[in-house]
Amino acid sequence: MSGLSGKVALVTGAASGLGRATALRFHEEGATVFAADQRPFDDPPCTTVEMDVRRQEDWQRVLDMIVAQAGRIDVLVNAAGIALDGDTVATCTPDMWKDTMEVNLDGTFIGCKLASRVMAEAGGGSIINVASINGATGDGGIVAEGVAAYGASKAAVRMLTRSAARFLAEQNTGVRCNVISPGYFATPMVLDYLDAHEDGAGARARIEEAQPLGRLGRPEEFAGVALFLASDRASAVTGSEYVVDGGYLAR
Ligand SMILES: NC(=O)c1ccc[n+]([C@@H]2O[C@H](COP(=O)([O-])OP(=O)(O)OC[C@H]3O[C@@H](n4cnc5c(N)ncnc54)[C@H](O)[C@@H]3O)[C@@H](O)[C@H]2O)c1
Repeated sequence: MSGLSGKVALVTGAASGLGRATALRFHEEGATVFAADQRPFDDPPCTTVEMDVRRQEDWQRVLDMIVAQAGRIDVLVNAAGIALDGDTVATCTPDMWKDTMEVNLDGTFIGCKLASRVMAEAGGGSIINVASINGATGDGGIVAEGVAAYGASKAAVRMLTRSAARFLAEQNTGVRCNVISPGYFATPMVLDYLDAHEDGAGARARIEEAQPLGRLGRPEEFAGVALFLASDRASAVTGSEYVVDGGYLAR
């Protein structure tokens, strides 16, 4: 199968978790993949690039490099993200708030802004943002104490996606923009948190109970949805949100 044959993709946050699974799947599906992260890669699946999504100059450098090497960019997956401990409205400090917003929201915004320009020049493309069920519900207390900054950043990513999608469609750029909102997945973001939790087994059981499918999501299940949105099969899909949460929000 080669659902992305001939396409050029940039995936951020690709050294770990959902971004890594997506970069691997896109590579398997025939895309030329540039895997970007701010930290080193173990066993890199494809071409790797060091970048900090908070920095506009990093984005510009990476996009210029991809266009120079591959001629264009067809797909961007904005998977880089952070979730900090102690993120309640009472305990989130101004620095925590700023850090969370800078990575999760500002990074996604700069990526949408600069990549859509490059895509539009080549006639189109697909941008896939990554929000969270915590951008739709304040129910962060299921494992962590709260999701004040995290949830706010992810709610903003959902709305940024809609605004970008409308604008880019109305301007006839050919660029689609969609968002995936995962539930709880078995990635280092969640597994490391559970490992450090005083009752990790109990916290994991609460997640599994809250997701009616009864388990954590697998990173490759996220990658399958990203693959659809990246592919030409989703040519009529823009401004949409795909909730991939094992039924959490449908309870
Ligand atoms: N795992 C889940 O259950 C879950 C649920 C909802 C949403 N999400 C979202 O999915 C995305 C991926 O999460 P994950 O679970 O794979 O997490 P992860 O921690 O396994 O991977 C995140 C990656 O982003 C990178 N990153 C962080 N800050 C960066 C920066 N400034 N510049 C470049 N790279 C940076 C990290 O180095 C890391 O490799 C995040 O946006 C996260 O908020 C995850």
